[in-house]
Amino acid sequence: MRYHEWVPLDEIVRKAKMPEKDVLYRLNRLSKFEFVVRSTYGYAVSMGGYDALAINALVKKGILKAIGNKLGVGKEGDVYNVLLNDDRVAVLKFHKHGRTCFTRGKRYRDYLADKHHISWLYVSRLSAEREFNILNELYPLVKVPEPIAWNRHAIIMGKVEGEELKRIDLSEFLSREEIEELFWKIIEEVKKAYKIGYIHGDLSEFNIIYNGEDFVIIDWPQAVPTYHPEARFYLKRDIENVVRYFKKYKVEKDVDELFKYITEVKD
Ligand SMILES: Nc1ncnc2c1ncn2[C@@H]1O[C@H](COP(=O)(O)OP(=O)(O)OP(=O)(O)O)[C@@H](O)[C@H]1O
Ligand SMILES: [Mg+2]
Repeated sequence: MRYHEWVPLDEIVRKAKMPEKDVLYRLNRLSKFEFVVRSTYGYAVSMGGYDALAINALVKKGILKAIGNKLGVGKEGDVYNVLLNDDRVAVLKFHKHGRTCFTRGKRYRDYLADKHHISWLYVSRLSAEREFNILNELYPLVKVPEPIAWNRHAIIMGKVEGEELKRIDLSEFLSREEIEELFWKIIEEVKKAYKIGYIHGDLSEFNIIYNGEDFVIIDWPQAVPTYHPEARFYLKRDIENVVRYFKKYKVEKDVDELFKYITEVKD
């Protein structure tokens, strides 16, 4: 699957080490559940089939116990409430990147540059792995969800209570000073992440969850390392987004000064 979009039947038979009729029987059952799809070139795992493989692996590892309702439906992923084996509530995020990944400005090209064939499946898996690794580096120093497990295109992370900033009117319960305080706290997290070596790259009111007291920055798969050739561009854009959001609450800040503040090295 890694190198083919469609896997020919004879290759599946060879890999499965089973008679062709047994392989066909299984493939037919899988396609009834829509776990595989068929074309004239062969077979491919469907998105649902890949989901099932990841869920199965996470259950077998003794991590996942139950899946609940869908949380947000992001443009590129599906997020579910889940229950872990230790009875903790968490979230399961499936990374789902189709052809859209190149138009959304998320930077997969960088780490895919040397791959010849790129299937959605492989891109999604890389993206999940990447988000998981970045969360591991940032957590708990930066306010990000706790990374718990990763398999294929799925990651399990700590559940963050609250709402996206986008959906809240801060002025309903915070004074102008408290809103400014929140602004600075967010900038401090951006600075901490920068110091550890990452720029979020898609920071905005959509990816900050706030619960009335504290906040968490989510959605890290597209983060770029600070040594990235376009790091300055992405950091500037992140700052601009935060500044723009707070401007409507009359918290007016200078992007260039914030940029300097975040990137200055002081030990
Ligand atoms: N750890 C979490 N705890 C609680 N809710 C979460 C968590 N992670 C994601 N969500 C919810 O799911 C939504 C989508 O998640 P996220 O932003 O990580 O994914 P995305 O698919 O990249 O979406 P986007 O379209 O914003 O790029 C979030 O906006 C949020 O509502
Ligand atoms: Mg998001």
